[in-house]
Amino acid sequence: MVSRVITPFERRKDVHTDSASFSGLNLTKRPRRNRRADWSRRLVREVELTANDLIWPLFVVDGVHDVEVNAMPGVIRRTVENAVREAEKAAALDIPAIALFPNTDPALRDETGSEAHNSRNLICRATRAIKAAVPEIGIITDVALDPYTSHGHDGLVRDGVVLNDESVAALVEQAINQAAAGADVIAPSDMMDGRVAAIRAALDREGFHDVQIMAYAAKYASAFYGPFRDAVGSNTTLKGDKRTYQMDPANGDEALREVALDLEEGADMVMVKPGMPYLDVVYRVKENFRVPTFAYQVSGEYAMIEGAARQGWIDGDKAMMESLIAFKRAGADGVLSYFAPRVAERLRQARA
Ligand code: PBG
Repeated sequence: MVSRVITPFERRKDVHTDSASFSGLNLTKRPRRNRRADWSRRLVREVELTANDLIWPLFVVDGVHDVEVNAMPGVIRRTVENAVREAEKAAALDIPAIALFPNTDPALRDETGSEAHNSRNLICRATRAIKAAVPEIGIITDVALDPYTSHGHDGLVRDGVVLNDESVAALVEQAINQAAAGADVIAPSDMMDGRVAAIRAALDREGFHDVQIMAYAAKYASAFYGPFRDAVGSNTTLKGDKRTYQMDPANGDEALREVALDLEEGADMVMVKPGMPYLDVVYRVKENFRVPTFAYQVSGEYAMIEGAARQGWIDGDKAMMESLIAFKRAGADGVLSYFAPRVAERLRQARA
């Protein structure tokens, strides 16, 4: 595997082809020295990616058949039974946590997203089944109404307006339903104002003091969510866009204000989403707050890498690993990525 390394001693004899005197350059600083050999590159490496940095978002579907996601080649919606198998696989790969998202039967979607409050809904059943079979893996559940509403919005809608305070009340109820099913981490992705404080208060009131909150604190109104909406089936239901609650991609300072609010309201961890186009935001959040900070490499980012790789246009495995180390370099403590099991497998092979 390792090609023969040229030692500095041998290189000294190389003066005729690569030396200061030959080129006329007077270089006292040569950053390339540290990059000369694999051992040296490993020695000076600043950040490291491990399985501990990964959260795996997993789609679940009703029925007895797994269903592939069109816009995300290689990503499969799992039946509850098979989701348990996938969680076992993730745990065996030392992935600390999975994030569950439901593809709700269209017949169960309505104006208010009432299925979100059903204690036997898809997410609650998956959570209970995974908790029972794989108690060592963390389960993160998504709080937002979009997989349950007939209009595809994350909150309640009246006269074309996505309501804030009424939506928060519904989201609180949804969060309690998920905590009761055994969720370890509640992750509000809805971007309503005040929802973290309301969810925290309700969790504490109901005795769920130890249930954590991972706030989608800086979540942008992004075109990169397209394939996810295909996966959960909200691409056909969504009316309009989410720009009255998700953030404007032009804003960075505002992300810091959103994070500050969610932390004040009781968030245990914060997230920036999407990931790669927003690494500056990840960096600023980590620098300013020094709290557990996560980035979501969203569906569109996955689709771009995997789509190009399947065309033979980029080396998919290398692009995948590079994209993840970039999150670590920017300051993320962890990354939600659809590549999680593949990355964990790669890391394991590299160690073997
Ligand atoms: C919905 C939600 C979305 C994602 C996670 N939760 C989509 C949206 O806001 O429309 C996107 C994840 C992805 O694109 O991978 N509340």
